[in-house]
Amino acid sequence: MNVAVLPGDGIGPEIIAQALAVLKKLELGLEFQTAPVGGAAYDAAGDPLPAHTLNIAREADAVLFGAVGDPRYDRLERAKRPEQAILGLRKALGLFANLRPARVHPELASASSLKPEVVSGLDILIVRELTGDIYFGEPRGIREAGGVREGFDTMRYSEPEIRRIARVGFEAARKRGKRVCSVDKANVLETSQLWREIVSQEAKRYPDVELTHMYVDNCAMQLVRTPKQFDVIVTGNMFGDILSDEASMLTGSIGMLPSASLDERGKGLYEPIHGTAPDIAGKGLANPLATILSAAMMLRYSLGQAKAAERVERAVTSVLQAGWRTADIHTPGMRKAGTEEIGRAVLQALN
Ligand code: IPM
Ligand code: MG
Repeated sequence: MNVAVLPGDGIGPEIIAQALAVLKKLELGLEFQTAPVGGAAYDAAGDPLPAHTLNIAREADAVLFGAVGDPRYDRLERAKRPEQAILGLRKALGLFANLRPARVHPELASASSLKPEVVSGLDILIVRELTGDIYFGEPRGIREAGGVREGFDTMRYSEPEIRRIARVGFEAARKRGKRVCSVDKANVLETSQLWREIVSQEAKRYPDVELTHMYVDNCAMQLVRTPKQFDVIVTGNMFGDILSDEASMLTGSIGMLPSASLDERGKGLYEPIHGTAPDIAGKGLANPLATILSAAMMLRYSLGQAKAAERVERAVTSVLQAGWRTADIHTPGMRKAGTEEIGRAVLQALN
């Protein structure tokens, strides 16, 4: 099995190094090919997603991705910005289904900004559509109309796009709490009206799964009011982007959350949901656990190694139980540790 490793920018290389050490320790015979992506690739080759990097990703069985972006590149034209690398990979590889679990490790319930009783035991899965919506809709641009400039984007979803992500949501719910909440803005948007209609149709094929609908503004509110009411949330690209950041904070640290982006055959790109954290990059402070847990998701979903995935997840849990904490999740009385120290603790826990 071949894994493309794309560390990217900021803290990307540091956290990826720890996840790689974990994967190597498992001795599964995985082959790794590393390539630059994002700002790092722009610096090296003038392109955030060089053809060589895209090829490596295309040919691999799975992609392990760090993070991309840095304020240094904000002035570049859009096509050259680091974010285009991840958007381009999602589109080119057909990674339409983004799974973002938000689980509260009992050890970290006090790190949440919400009351422990509101979040302890929380386990929700956001299924975000990833290759459509206003992110990719055409036309888009900035034009001049009647002497004033205006920016415009197009929100659109086709029926098959809605159908296939709805199925991913229902299938996932079947393996969990058997409840899907579809999130839209059907009181205002045509796109959402079609979304709701198609999701409701698909639900008929899953009589064992309960479907509810919720407007996105209400969902944003319910997530901080009573987040445990949710099992699986299925939603479009834009709403999913926003809600998954919100859900991540319920867990106490965005530094803990992995994600998987899957195509129709189960090939996937795995990345922590946090960004490049330029403020702490290179200082050895970043939390590598989201990336290590992303590697575990990769073992489970793309590499057929469910046992190894569980081993890694158990190791992470035991590291938390032993009190190891990076600065982002540190609370008084716990052992404060840096990126490498946490990585070493996970390796030891694997023994
Ligand atoms: C995410 C990120 C990306 C997105 C950015 C970096 C383009 O916020 O993965 O959630 O908006 O999808
Ligand atoms: Mg986001």
